[in-house]
Amino acid sequence: MKKRVAILISGRGSNMAALIDAAKDPAYPAEIVLVLSNIADAGGLERAREAGIATEVVEHKPFGKDRAAFDRAVHAVLERHRTEIVCLAGFLRLLTPWFVERWSGRLINIHPSLLPALKGLDTHARALAAGATQHGATVHFVVPELDSGPIIAQESVPVLPGDTEETLAARVLAVEHRIYPLALKRVAQGDVAG
Ligand code: GRF
Repeated sequence: MKKRVAILISGRGSNMAALIDAAKDPAYPAEIVLVLSNIADAGGLERAREAGIATEVVEHKPFGKDRAAFDRAVHAVLERHRTEIVCLAGFLRLLTPWFVERWSGRLINIHPSLLPALKGLDTHARALAAGATQHGATVHFVVPELDSGPIIAQESVPVLPGDTEETLAARVLAVEHRIYPLALKRVAQGDVAG
């Protein structure tokens, strides 16, 4: 039985698209049953619809500062779609510990750095500013502490002379699109535990 996977996005959804593509393989152990966004016009939603995947929008704005209520609303939608694994893919909302613990071991994220280095935002600019020679991407289980859960997959890229944020980001993104499907496969097969 394939695992039922929901992908949470806020933007263009290129990692989402990589997961959707991978899941087209009949031998892949997961199926993408839902793409959920907190942004109604996120570019990725259209891509998901074109791929024939159910989409849902839960805007965070009406919830104001009540993160717990937003997370409960997202959780209810995930339950309605009988979700078993949640993939965060450029989902720009911090999730509450209640949500993270509810999905413990079944909630994964992709982060554009070689964790534990460069947690948080603006990783490409910070890698360049630090004079790093290696950078990369990491897929990890989500725990309440930001970008800190057990690592499932990680791959490095070189930082090259003359790199800009854009050239470096593009090199890292190509790696992201490769390792996220591999990591989800490992989780869906039960090869790794969070
Ligand atoms: C990716 O770089 C991902 O690592 C980060 O946000 C970006 C999302 O890009 N968390 P996309 O929406 O998957 O194209």
